[in-house]
Amino acid sequence: MIRRLVSSMILVPALLTAQSQQEFASRRTAVVSAMPDGALVALGAHEPAQDYLTFVQSPSFYYLTGFKEPDAALIIVKQGGQVVSSTMFVQPRLPSREVWTGSRLGVEGISKLSGMRGRSVEDLPKVLDSLASAGVAMSVVGELGDGGGSGAAALLSASTPDRQIFERLRAAHSGLKVTPFNAAVERARGKKSLTEQRFIRQAVDITVLAQREAMAAIEPGMNEFEIQSLIEYTFRRNGADRPSFSTIVGSGPNSTTLHYNADDRFIEPNDVIVMDIGASYKGYAADVTRTVPASGKFSPQQRAVYEIVRAAQAAAERQAKLGANSGLMTDSSNAVLAAGLSKLGLIESPTATYDCDAGPTPRQCPQYRMYYMHGLGHGIGLEVHDPEQYYLTRKIAPGSAFTIEPGIYVRGRVLEEMPETPRNREIATKLRGAVNTYKNIGVRIEDDYIATESGVEWISRAPREIDEIEAAMRGSYAGPRRRDRSLVEKYKGE
Ligand code: GLY
Ligand code: MN
Ligand code: MN
Repeated sequence: MIRRLVSSMILVPALLTAQSQQEFASRRTAVVSAMPDGALVALGAHEPAQDYLTFVQSPSFYYLTGFKEPDAALIIVKQGGQVVSSTMFVQPRLPSREVWTGSRLGVEGISKLSGMRGRSVEDLPKVLDSLASAGVAMSVVGELGDGGGSGAAALLSASTPDRQIFERLRAAHSGLKVTPFNAAVERARGKKSLTEQRFIRQAVDITVLAQREAMAAIEPGMNEFEIQSLIEYTFRRNGADRPSFSTIVGSGPNSTTLHYNADDRFIEPNDVIVMDIGASYKGYAADVTRTVPASGKFSPQQRAVYEIVRAAQAAAERQAKLGANSGLMTDSSNAVLAAGLSKLGLIESPTATYDCDAGPTPRQCPQYRMYYMHGLGHGIGLEVHDPEQYYLTRKIAPGSAFTIEPGIYVRGRVLEEMPETPRNREIATKLRGAVNTYKNIGVRIEDDYIATESGVEWISRAPREIDEIEAAMRGSYAGPRRRDRSLVEKYKGE
């Protein structure tokens, strides 16, 4: 018995490593099969320019290699339709540097781990140069700043270190063919393997725990950052790497700001609180939002808005089926939101529009869009907004992993945000009373789903119906001791 235990303790981790290496290898094979003859050049993320910031590997490089150290590269050369070499370029082991960075895998380590040839990243420029001299076309996976755009964003992206590498190469080798190849990797990333699905489920389970902790802890008088820190403590305490995006705890007026993440306001008794949170587990993101009343009980106005958003989400969930057109989720939830907003008097009718610019013949936008400014959902995976196969196929299929997250956000100034036109003034007069009734109520409900051969599964089972949330908020709380408000407020206003 004991002997069996010992041998399995030794064998199991080795087996798991071999399996996951096989998975990384098969991802490379799939991506390279879509590439013409030439070299796949994939570049990892660079060491942060500022000391002491956490290094996070670029998702597509991690997807292909499973390698988490900075400044690495992968080159796969394909000729006559066959792979002729696969090489990982990594930082060599340098004891003097490792005093600061901790131990590196090094050239030997990477070849043992990945089965590919290892070389020092210091050799990368001359290898790229010799490939370019031989006229080998390059398909590049990296931060090329090729996403278009204008203004400051374009200027910034134009100067990425990865892009500079290829600009220099092209300057030295006229006629060199360099093609961005990120889309091929993203296509592959859109369908999650079983291993990836397991990691997403784990990230989601940890996130659900954090939602429950937060619901039990919330009381008026607490600061948003107390809830944020409890959430992030719960993540890390349960083995998450880190939050998969900036934790959003938005109370009262902050509940209506989509990406509010200052998380620094004292919660008042009549607030709702939007908690949009996600743990990252082995690099995989969860993304789960719950909206709760600070008092522990939804007021009639909060309840009315919440019920519409929940009904919109349920309508989308009914369309979330294997083989279904993914656009149906959006269509059905939009219809429920528009009908509900109209019933509350926040819009004139489900199909009513407003002038969304002030030109001579103003463009018309649906009125419900004044309160619902974002899309219904997105893929989740190595990034919180991850590639998803239905973006390309329009069909939900096994391996899809995505969110459904409708919302309604009644900003106090929503009517003043409309362009100044006679028609908009007339709308504002009609809607003002309802906006005053529901202002500062922002509700988002966001859940995560995975599609397998047996169907689409709701995986983020945190309390979600009104009675479930109210029950979770009545639950006793035995978490860390409450903070000292006098300490928190000592330098407020300075
Ligand atoms: N937390 C970001 C999002 O919901 O998309
Ligand atoms: Mn989301
Ligand atoms: Mn979210």
